Amino acid sequence: MTVTSVYLDYNASTPLLPRVEKSYLKASHHFGNPSSFHRPGNLAKELVEESRVLVLDFLGADPGQLIFTGSGTEANNLVLNRVLAKHLKGTPTHFITSEIEHSSILNTAQYFETLGIKVTYLPVNQEGVIQIDRLEQEITKHTTLISLMLANNETGVIQPIKEAALMAKNKHIPIHTDAAQAIGRYVFTVSDLGIDYLTLSGHKCYGPKGIGGLYSKDPQTLDSLIRGGSQEFGKRAGTLNTSGIAAFGCALSLLKKSIASDIQHMSHLKNMFITQLKISLPNITFNGNPDQSLSNTINVSFNVSDYEAILMNLDLAGIYASSGSACSTGSHEPSHVIQAMTSDPKRINSATRFSLGKMTTLKEIDYVLDTLPKIIKKLDKVNT
Ligand SMILES: Cc1ncc(COP(=O)(O)O)c(C=O)c1O
Repeated sequence: MTVTSVYLDYNASTPLLPRVEKSYLKASHHFGNPSSFHRPGNLAKELVEESRVLVLDFLGADPGQLIFTGSGTEANNLVLNRVLAKHLKGTPTHFITSEIEHSSILNTAQYFETLGIKVTYLPVNQEGVIQIDRLEQEITKHTTLISLMLANNETGVIQPIKEAALMAKNKHIPIHTDAAQAIGRYVFTVSDLGIDYLTLSGHKCYGPKGIGGLYSKDPQTLDSLIRGGSQEFGKRAGTLNTSGIAAFGCALSLLKKSIASDIQHMSHLKNMFITQLKISLPNITFNGNPDQSLSNTINVSFNVSDYEAILMNLDLAGIYASSGSACSTGSHEPSHVIQAMTSDPKRINSATRFSLGKMTTLKEIDYVLDTLPKIIKKLDKVNT
């Protein structure tokens, strides 16, 4: 087998598609400030507005419902600022989220708690699905916002957001979903989901880093997080990242055309990966029901050794996977997502994520299926 490296960490970041790279470079020549009232400024503004149409079209949303941000993290902070703003105005506030959210939600929620805001964290079941039946009973008259992710970044488990949105609507509570991982891996529109706010991140869907967006059914409900100029309808100050925005729109317009075949391709490779790995390593546990998860994500506990040794050996073999979110990898903490699903230390410490992309090939997966069992068997011997 002549494969030398296999990148299986698309949930951490994706490469730019060649046409996206071109659009980034082309837009960078339009250096005028999109807020300036002259021709170079207008040309840059045109690129921004063309991209806004493409992103909104991808989401099935209406004009004026998108705020460009500097990242998915910022979009999450922007919408959660709604809770903080109410609190600062002296209104009693309660925020509902889940135990398995990305750190940009969880750390903000924990900060809210230090300010005296009440936060409820919904638990998940053993399959990694948020216990939505608990949502209705947790809502109080002070609940200001609900934020639940559309698909988990570590397990890929798709969450029952439509049901949550219906409950929220019945109680007149706004609901946000973090869709950073779902874009391009799961088909949806904002109206299918019935949500009020939705987070996007450029570098998870073949666009550049440093660009994100917040869909808002009614942007007037938001207070700006960053103070300064009146860009983005006064909801996000700062000179717009014209190249990043243009490339982001380009990535989503391409994904819109390819999403059905991309999902089919990734699902096929994912199913093959799972079926064959179960045969070569019968003692492994898949985290999250693979049938209810994103077309590209596999999270598996090998129940031998720990994820650091597994990842190091994979890296030496040219296979680039992850233990979960890039942030928790950096801090070497066991995954909060797997911990929310099980208390089994072996399962928690050996959880490894393989996330595929539209560029992943059958040859690459064959190489991983040949190499991975050898690594796990070697580590098992060392530990026994
Ligand atoms: C579910 C989820 N939300 C938000 C983010 C943050 O996005 P960004 O890297 O654009 O800040 C990530 C990144 O890993 C993510 O997986």
